[in-house]
Amino acid sequence: MVKVTFHGHSCFGFQTDKHSIIVDPYLSGNPHAKTKPEDIKVEAVLLTHGHGDHIGDGIEIAKANNAVIIAPFELATFCQEQGAEAHPMHIGGSFDFAFGRVTLTIAHHGSGLSTDKGILYLGNPCGFVVNFEGRNVYHAGDTGLFYDMKLIGEMYPLDLALLPIGSNFTMGIPEAVKAVELLAPNNVIPMHYNTFDVIKQNPEEFISRLPETVKGTVLNVGESFEL
Ligand code: NI
Ligand code: MN
Repeated sequence: MVKVTFHGHSCFGFQTDKHSIIVDPYLSGNPHAKTKPEDIKVEAVLLTHGHGDHIGDGIEIAKANNAVIIAPFELATFCQEQGAEAHPMHIGGSFDFAFGRVTLTIAHHGSGLSTDKGILYLGNPCGFVVNFEGRNVYHAGDTGLFYDMKLIGEMYPLDLALLPIGSNFTMGIPEAVKAVELLAPNNVIPMHYNTFDVIKQNPEEFISRLPETVKGTVLNVGESFEL
């Protein structure tokens, strides 16, 4: 069993009997988050890109847990420079970790981190397919719709897809509905909406537009889904 917990925005925790990881832990900066970074216990932190609402507390959580950061090369190297342990990967590559097999996918987006000295570009953003105990979970990261989502669904038949629906920075509801058609997952959970005014959406509208073959679930912050 894989327990998938929504921590708000694009942050999800994944727990199996023996393993625990987190993706895009934007907690201390997110007024809707209910979990404190110091309460997160994980062995790996996966980061899709360098924007502040995704890198979030990732470096601090990794250091506190002696956890490895898994991210595209440039972002992983930046995290190493900040003193965290990191495992650099890149788009199209896969690696077997103790908790499961991680594959990096494309994402159409940016990956610049705002700093005192301006924007620091941290390479390409990504999405992740993680195979936990034979079940494939796709976390799309921040992205627009792309037709290669069909390829992702074909290569890694998906038990669960986590898709942004907020629009403005990523896909909105119409695009995410099309993404579901291309990916053909068994389950889908929307993310990256309602955190800021510009990404206000009604997630129930997204669920109501899904094909009958796909089960959609809206998670409130702190709620979990069992796979
Ligand atoms: Ni972003
Ligand atoms: Mn974002």
